[in-house]
Amino acid sequence: MLHDAPSAVIAGTGSYLPVKVMTNADMAKIVDTNDEWIVARTGIKARHIADSEYETTSFMASEAAKKALEAAQLKPEDIDAIIVATTTPDLTFPSVAAQVQAMLGVPPCVAFDVQAVCSGFLYALSVADKFIKTKSAENILVIGAERMSKILDWNDRTTCVLFGDGAGAVVLKAHGDTKRGVIATNLYADGRLKDILLTSGGTATTGDAGMIQMQGKDVFKYAVTFMAEMVDDILKQADVKREEINWLVPHQANLRIISGAAQKLGLPMEQVIITLDSHGNTSAASIPLALDQGVRDGRIKQGQMLLMEAVGGGLTWASALVRY
Ligand code: UT7
Repeated sequence: MLHDAPSAVIAGTGSYLPVKVMTNADMAKIVDTNDEWIVARTGIKARHIADSEYETTSFMASEAAKKALEAAQLKPEDIDAIIVATTTPDLTFPSVAAQVQAMLGVPPCVAFDVQAVCSGFLYALSVADKFIKTKSAENILVIGAERMSKILDWNDRTTCVLFGDGAGAVVLKAHGDTKRGVIATNLYADGRLKDILLTSGGTATTGDAGMIQMQGKDVFKYAVTFMAEMVDDILKQADVKREEINWLVPHQANLRIISGAAQKLGLPMEQVIITLDSHGNTSAASIPLALDQGVRDGRIKQGQMLLMEAVGGGLTWASALVRY
């Protein structure tokens, strides 16, 4: 850590979920699937699907950000950077971050998107942490927002049942208490694995937007391996013991992957924040959505140690240790 560097503390969290909920029974009306298969293989029971008119990625991001600002007791004019993790921006440009800035009325500031698919929020958190530690910003909105429903092949039962829409946000704040805040982040990518999880072309904006294609079994194997390796790496790097972890706040792709990670940590499932059952896989939004749920229902308390980890398209993978 830099000499005299402030720590980057999570000062507030917020989230937004689309109004429309689609259950597994609703999915079974569209493709040849059933509740039993989806629950047994993934843990998902329902997901939120954005309205095609008004629940854009930037709208959901802004709504989540408003709640995070409120929780942090800050005003839009206090924010000096906005970083949005998304793989489903409304437009190729401007960035979702710039649109959020306009929607919230934040004065001119740093605003940009990062794209690391399901690992995106941890990439954004890591970048924001470095802005704070280098004193380049003091109050940063870090948001994960996704409209995955736009890039789903609704005829492909192997992918369309897995994903959902939503947004989660945190305010990361420069703080003098160096025992709290982001302790370590590790980011990884290996583009040689790009073909096992990708879109078929296009961008989220156009009528010919690409659609998700996934070799699920291959991704599953890598996810289990990377999740396990990341735990060892980050704990060693930060000199933190497994027993010090209070909460695992994982990317929500598959309950079997999450249970494997918890088992490796020796953590009972009671110490894992799960939103997968009601949100599905919301890609970059899943970790901040889970974090907000854990904070708002009172499970995550100030001073507790959180481990976050994710694996996604790219492939990318990432982890973060945060003392809340
Ligand atoms: O967030 C990004 C990272 N993504 C992930 O981490 C996802 C990782 N992968 C997975 O979570 C799992 O591989 C899946 C949930 C995607 C699939 O589970 P699986 O246990 O690997 O199933 P499978 O792909 O091997 O499919 C088993 C069977 C197949 O039928 P046959 O060939 O055995 O007759 C599939 O056709 O299940 C069938 N199947 C379905 N059946 C009912 C596939 N999708 C469905 C479905 N409903 N929706």
